[in-house]
Amino acid sequence: MPENTLTVVDNRTGKSYTIPIMNDTVRAMDFRQIKVDPDDFGMMTYDPAFTNTAACKSNITYIDGDRGILRYRGYDIAELAENCSYLQVAYLLIFGELPSPKQEREWVHELRIRMGIFENIKEFMAGFRYDAHPMGILVSTVAALSTFYPDSKRVHDPEARLNTVYRLIGKMPIIAAYAYRHRLGLPYVYPEPDLSYTANFMHMLWHRSELRNLTSPVLAHALDVLFILHADHEQNCSANAMRSVGSSEADPFLATAAAAAALAGPLHGGANEEVLAMLSRIGSVDRVADYVKLVKEGKQKLMGFGHRVYKNYDPRARIIKTVANEVFQVTGRNPKIDVAMALEQIALNDEYFIKRKLYPNVDFYSGIIYEAMGFDPEMFTVLFAIPRTAGWLAQWQEMTNDSEQKISRPRQVYTGPELRQLTRTSAAMAD
Ligand code: CMC
Repeated sequence: MPENTLTVVDNRTGKSYTIPIMNDTVRAMDFRQIKVDPDDFGMMTYDPAFTNTAACKSNITYIDGDRGILRYRGYDIAELAENCSYLQVAYLLIFGELPSPKQEREWVHELRIRMGIFENIKEFMAGFRYDAHPMGILVSTVAALSTFYPDSKRVHDPEARLNTVYRLIGKMPIIAAYAYRHRLGLPYVYPEPDLSYTANFMHMLWHRSELRNLTSPVLAHALDVLFILHADHEQNCSANAMRSVGSSEADPFLATAAAAAALAGPLHGGANEEVLAMLSRIGSVDRVADYVKLVKEGKQKLMGFGHRVYKNYDPRARIIKTVANEVFQVTGRNPKIDVAMALEQIALNDEYFIKRKLYPNVDFYSGIIYEAMGFDPEMFTVLFAIPRTAGWLAQWQEMTNDSEQKISRPRQVYTGPELRQLTRTSAAMAD
């Protein structure tokens, strides 16, 4: 009968240890008992960038990176994208089940009554320079919300927690739309809460400037699908930031601002902006091969390719390609799609990318769609942050309710100097 344990022999001492295995995982703390002598601190595990460390148990999102599977609460992403609205999926992430019609009405109502921001916040946002990056505006404004809602600091009070969830999901599109119009020097447009979540967002973005887009249910639906695809992705860099900052019991506005800051980086959510910059640099299909050569020589990165977890096609990228065709029917074809498709074809057949299991990720095509809809590349990561807020909050709620979680505090392997005395010479040098 095979035993669910791991036997570890410490060759320094000859001692043997039996470590329990649960869910194909061992507890790092079980290694602490491994010591050379009683004064020894004990064995630690070393895992920079958490490439093989589970930091939590979670029942929100399941990814099988080798088989290209993504599920929220057990539902396949393709099925959700085809049959649900973003707000239904956000409810699923937050509460664990899809809403009944009554629950959905109540959910939408709770969000709608919080779809507004104080005038002071408008003034605060107006203080940014005309060309401020909208992700910087978003991160700062979400953090500033913390000062408007001090009750959010009651992180162990379920009612206060839920209130913050409603506020953040309700207000995120407003902040995003205001950041967008600030750059254009246009007056802010107040929300129209009776519209759907994405139609209201489009209203706040384009009212009286792009009527064509405003009235298109195809674009509102495409945005809804894109929001569903971006809603959560288990323990990625920003979810980890959300959990880590939230673990100090900082309020969820501050934790969400930290998560959004993590998302802004070009290796994470900021990749969609970088993809567009890359496609613009390449310019035309006949220059794709030269660019791939530069990537293989290590001189460039193929942005929108590769993923820490997916070692097979990213299922979100497949769905996004279909959405792109629907959007182009309304907006006209974005010529960058031809460069992107040529790039994908060459890369998928090239030994460099095959060997490293590099496939297009969600960000490879999303920017092309957003650009066709009329967004500047600077807005792309903001469009990622709006739906991901539901995922961050679901992760945060789960962490707060998990009795095994504590303040997040990794260990280190210290490699600096041993204790040394301050001498006259070293003090003078420090001067
Ligand atoms: N272009 C060229 N080579 C790459 C790329 C790429 N985009 N991504 C990875 N590689 C190479 C890398 O150089 C390494 O090669 P070697 O073994 O010869 O040193 C090998 O593939 C393994 O890469 P890695 O850096 O160990 O992989 P990682 O898991 O640490 O990084 C990643 C994952 C997403 C940060 C990386 O693939 C990347 O930088 N991609 C481009 C940025 C991007 O598109 N990010 C969006 C991710 S999806 C949306 C999200 O969740 O945020």
